[in-house]
Amino acid sequence: MADENKKQPQSNDQEENVTLTNRQGHPVTDNQNVRTVGNRGPVTLENYNFLEKITHFDRERVPERVVHARGAGAHGVFEAYGTVGDEPVSKYTRAKLFQEKGKQTPVFVRFSSVIHGGHSPETLRDPRGFATKFYTEDGNWDLVGNNLKIFFIRDPLKFPDMVHAFKPDPITNVQDMERFLDFVANSPESTHMITFLFSPWGIPANYRMMQGSGVNTYKWVNAEGEAVLVKYHWEPLQGIRNLKQEEANQIQGLDFNHATVDLYDAIERGEYPEWELCVQIMSDDYHPELDFDPLDDTKLWPEDQFPFLKVGKMTLNRNPEDYFNEVEQAAFGTGVLVDGLDFSDDKMLQGRTFSYSDTQRHRIGANYQQLPINAPKSRVATNHSGGQMRYQTDRAPGQNPHVNYEPSSLGGLQEAPKAGKDHEPEYYNTRLMRQKIDRPNDFAQAGETYRNFEDWERDELISNLGSNLAQCNEVIQEKVLANITEADADYGKRVREMMEKVMADPEKGKPLHRAHMAAKKAEEKGHEA
Ligand code: HEM
Repeated sequence: MADENKKQPQSNDQEENVTLTNRQGHPVTDNQNVRTVGNRGPVTLENYNFLEKITHFDRERVPERVVHARGAGAHGVFEAYGTVGDEPVSKYTRAKLFQEKGKQTPVFVRFSSVIHGGHSPETLRDPRGFATKFYTEDGNWDLVGNNLKIFFIRDPLKFPDMVHAFKPDPITNVQDMERFLDFVANSPESTHMITFLFSPWGIPANYRMMQGSGVNTYKWVNAEGEAVLVKYHWEPLQGIRNLKQEEANQIQGLDFNHATVDLYDAIERGEYPEWELCVQIMSDDYHPELDFDPLDDTKLWPEDQFPFLKVGKMTLNRNPEDYFNEVEQAAFGTGVLVDGLDFSDDKMLQGRTFSYSDTQRHRIGANYQQLPINAPKSRVATNHSGGQMRYQTDRAPGQNPHVNYEPSSLGGLQEAPKAGKDHEPEYYNTRLMRQKIDRPNDFAQAGETYRNFEDWERDELISNLGSNLAQCNEVIQEKVLANITEADADYGKRVREMMEKVMADPEKGKPLHRAHMAAKKAEEKGHEA
């Protein structure tokens, strides 16, 4: 596997020759001086080497990810346990990568922060991305997760608004807690997520010591076609460590790349970070006995009812050789599943599944799946053709090269046999509608999470949320306070006290109110007119 990612379409294997050439293979004899008319004179335009060098440089960047722009990656291996808890894994899924004890599958992982741009500090309060590409014998499986186990929203239609509110203000280009908490205040389903986010769980100490979670609900399907609902979780064998705001401030003052450096250096030292992959399993139905919907990603599945069952271990043991090629151009998507793994009806999961490959066709290009980091290490045979930057066909060795379509009787590609029984298709007897799910229960788990925190975690949450709320106008303050009070009365009371204390401090309590002031100004103008 090690060499696969290094392979380029043209070979560079000339022995021990470090002579500089341009991309056409012409030796470059002068890389210091452009060609000019006289040594002070104007630059000539036929200067091919210069033009090639500078125009390529001008195109070095591709658009950064619209979210999760800042990231770090590493290669490694996943080793299956062959079991899920005490049972054979085949009872629940026929996915080949999990079946045999000791079976190894190469992986690539990209960790990230979410909201800020490509070189933003890694100490910011933000969820962290934890995306894994498994290069399985059945093709790729991407598990695109975060460190936290839940999310802000449960409907994909709200995602662009959420991201706009959290990203820097469109005028000042600065993230503004009033805009952030304005969205949160008016989206009560985010109460649980902000309870985690404003606690130390919102600033993991580094990438090696954080958990991962698929967040959304998937399915496993066994050889009989029977399905169960599953959630995926990564548990770090290095332990878990999160930061207080003060610690994060100090680290940021010294090094705003600390998480990338920590991961890279640990791997270079041979201290390979490891995570165990666990699943929670639930029968594939509506579960009327629960006070939440199993397809609602703002909810935790209680561990006492749905225990974490280990299925394998991942070790990251190799740093990328080129950041752009392997980390920046890596493309993960929730639609990238292998046989035995399936979607559930989780609306967020379905919205995400469209969004990832759509953005990647824009961000990297139509043929992003051919790049070495994204290409499966298993056999590929398609009738796709053309598109920018395509450099190889996906033709199978025995295929009639004239037949790039299917069906055909002339020796083209043919459909694969089924790997097992299809799982019982869903039966829907309902109307098309736009409606919230039943059992939204926006506050109960937020309250439980608040009460389950250790004292120092709760103190940090109060301090962080209280001081950020102090920067907001009263309408937003009261809405957020009402939501968290609904979750837990003590939570609401303590955040209010902290907020009022900060507001009373002339140094700290300066409200931002930029968006609010602009709204007021517009209102006054309206009245004048
Ligand atoms: C990245 C969309 C929810 C985890 C992205 C990207 C988009 C996106 C467009 C950029 C992908 C790229 O340029 O390659 C969405 C939408 C969501 C959603 C529309 C909801 C409807 C979530 C959730 C999670 C998550 C719930 C957590 C499980 C990630 C991660 C990445 C990412 C880890 C970075 C992947 C990488 O390292 O390349 N998302 N996302 N997203 N998203 Fe989401």
